[in-house]
Amino acid sequence: MTQDHDPADGIAFVDGAYVPLALASVPLIDRGFVRSDATYDVVHVWQGRFFRLDNHIERFHASMQGLHMSLPHSKADIAGILTECVRRSGLRDAYVQMTCTRGVPPRGTRDPRLCRNRFYAFAQPFVWIANEEQRREGLSMIVSSVQRIQPEAVDPRIKNFHWLDLTMGIFEAYENDAVVAVLTDRAGNVTEGAGFNVFAVRDGRLATPDRGVFEGMTRRTVIEMAREVGIGCEVRDVPADELRAADEIFITSTAGGIMPVTVLDGRIHGNGKPGPLTRRIHDLYWDRQHAAGLFTEIDYG
Ligand SMILES: Cc1ncc(COP(=O)(O)O)c(C=O)c1O
Repeated sequence: MTQDHDPADGIAFVDGAYVPLALASVPLIDRGFVRSDATYDVVHVWQGRFFRLDNHIERFHASMQGLHMSLPHSKADIAGILTECVRRSGLRDAYVQMTCTRGVPPRGTRDPRLCRNRFYAFAQPFVWIANEEQRREGLSMIVSSVQRIQPEAVDPRIKNFHWLDLTMGIFEAYENDAVVAVLTDRAGNVTEGAGFNVFAVRDGRLATPDRGVFEGMTRRTVIEMAREVGIGCEVRDVPADELRAADEIFITSTAGGIMPVTVLDGRIHGNGKPGPLTRRIHDLYWDRQHAAGLFTEIDYG
């Protein structure tokens, strides 16, 4: 480790070695880079513990299978590599990504079957979709005019690098004094935004879109918690107008947990404060970080 690179800025594992994140690279002609031909997953570490590490690695494997990718690393190997990235970084709160790219095709071919798939991973300081004040007071969101890529074209359940629709949504949000954008599908149902799922609360019940979305781990955790504590939760189409009429709105992500939305399309939503159900789910979620069977303690040595 050179003096210029503080391990707490991030540690990566690439081509079999651990390096400072700032020095990690993949070849320009890897199809992951030139064709968005890659899949990945992100797990977080909170207070020195991975949350749902095995579930994230399972989902990563399912995504690779969906894209006809494979790696020489077992699930246990991947868990070990991720743990080592975090351990070397010393980070107690971290954003940890595992990625599989298609790799570089042999010279003279474009056949994706002939590529050796590449694995890399990194740990960096915890990433928050929203800053502290936004998380406390609520975020401003727009329903974007950009449509989410259709699930028939790119399966959003396979976590992917096709983010241009989501990124255009971010631009539209900033142009409208908001910080996040939720995209709709062709039928006008809400889908998801850049790195998050969305929930609407009405009459004490939750609803979240069932199709055209990445099935986020935080979303899954909310669905499970709601069922456990007896809060109704429907996974179904959520028309944009239903979101506009909701009592409360919140978004969910590994990068920030449960985040209230208090302004929608420039109008104050509800009474402009995070609602009681959102606050309850938020607290349940952070308690859940320490639930037996869901966390993996990191030994920092
Ligand atoms: C497009 C998209 N939707 C939803 C999510 C939320 O998923 P999770 O809760 O697993 O972080 C993400 C996470 O990055 C995402 O990229």
